[in-house]
Amino acid sequence: MDSVRLGIVGTGNMGGNHARQVLEGKVPGLTLSALCDINPKRFEAFVEHQLPTFTSAEALLTSGTVDAVMVATPHYAHTTIGIQVLEAGLHLLVEKPICVHKADCEKLIAAHTDPAVVFSAMFNQRTDPSYQWLRERIEGGELGPLQRINWIMTGWFRTESYYQSGDWRATWRGEGGGVLVNQCPHQLDLWQWLFGMPSSVRAFCKLGQFHDIEVEDNVTAYMEYENGCTGVFITTTGEAPGANRLEVVGDLGTVVIEHGKVTWRKCETSVSEHSRTSSKGFEKPSTETVPVIIEGTGEQHTGIMKNFAAAILHGEPLLAPAVEGKASVELGNTMLYSAAINDTVQLPLDAAKYAELLESRIATSRYVKSADPAEVATDFSNSF
Ligand SMILES: NC(=O)c1ccc[n+]([C@@H]2O[C@H](COP(=O)([O-])OP(=O)(O)OC[C@H]3O[C@@H](n4cnc5c(N)ncnc54)[C@H](O)[C@@H]3O)[C@@H](O)[C@H]2O)c1
Repeated sequence: MDSVRLGIVGTGNMGGNHARQVLEGKVPGLTLSALCDINPKRFEAFVEHQLPTFTSAEALLTSGTVDAVMVATPHYAHTTIGIQVLEAGLHLLVEKPICVHKADCEKLIAAHTDPAVVFSAMFNQRTDPSYQWLRERIEGGELGPLQRINWIMTGWFRTESYYQSGDWRATWRGEGGGVLVNQCPHQLDLWQWLFGMPSSVRAFCKLGQFHDIEVEDNVTAYMEYENGCTGVFITTTGEAPGANRLEVVGDLGTVVIEHGKVTWRKCETSVSEHSRTSSKGFEKPSTETVPVIIEGTGEQHTGIMKNFAAAILHGEPLLAPAVEGKASVELGNTMLYSAAINDTVQLPLDAAKYAELLESRIATSRYVKSADPAEVATDFSNSF
């Protein structure tokens, strides 16, 4: 096989964008060979390409037109369609979050039984060289044991028209959550990829604080690790201009990544040892600022698609194996669960209990959209 025949299920905002990237030849190794959406209007933008189109995933999967499938539907269908794709023996690239809740992640991951089938997730921010650089420093022990992590990710501003534009958006039934489920899977994935999973989480999630929605749009979470390291994660879709500032403090120095700029202040000695041994009460260990020059934010979505194709064609290791997608879902679920029970939650999260909470939120929801999503004109053109 020289090129993998890709079918995309869900050709809306994101799936449509992925389709265009492949059609424009930006992903060597992938050929777009079919489109699938329950809304056939979505095919109109691609009519000139004369691709086979399907209005159900089943029809696509039995058509013989594809070797691999990208699932870019609303999140709940990632589980159901993802399982169908894997059971059909086709390679799968699933959008983030891999599923809405932990129990669904376990079902989807359990369906991946054939190691020859490549199963990747669209964690495009793993291609960002700033985060890759930080991961290498942490893994190489250059920051020493971590003691504090703060991530303020308040740059996910969304308008009312965004939320009203899809009947599934920002509802418990259609989406299963808000900023933690839609926008933040990227940061939650990077969090666990860089720092591992905490042992406990205490979170405060405001539901519909800034928008006419029933799910969370403002979150502050406090996390603790086995080694005593603490973390605070703050996010919202209701703030502008917003920030994206990650500060990581280790025993050997501090790294700040803010809007793509990396600042590394390295301590010449271990801070804890200096504290134990110095006779001067106010003296900090000396530090140097190490220049870190990082260009750009990486290949993002096309990078993940190229890696997916190369994994199928040449056995290249995956940058974002989908099995790792469970951790970010578990982190987000735990934050929502902690806020709901107004208490600290120990990890691992009880998947069944969280699924129960979500079911009861769906069952008791009285939320109705203030506008007919079909009538809401929203421009997504600057969303990537
Ligand atoms: N990686 C990223 O940067 C990124 C960015 C945006 C969205 N996403 C993810 O992409 C997914 C889709 O988001 P979106 O903004 O494109 O939504 P969207 O509503 O614009 O598009 C979803 C499409 O899926 C179709 N669909 C729904 N159910 C289907 C089914 N059962 N079978 C086939 N098609 C179906 C809808 O008709 C629609 O065209 C979400 O999971 C979201 O989290 C990822």
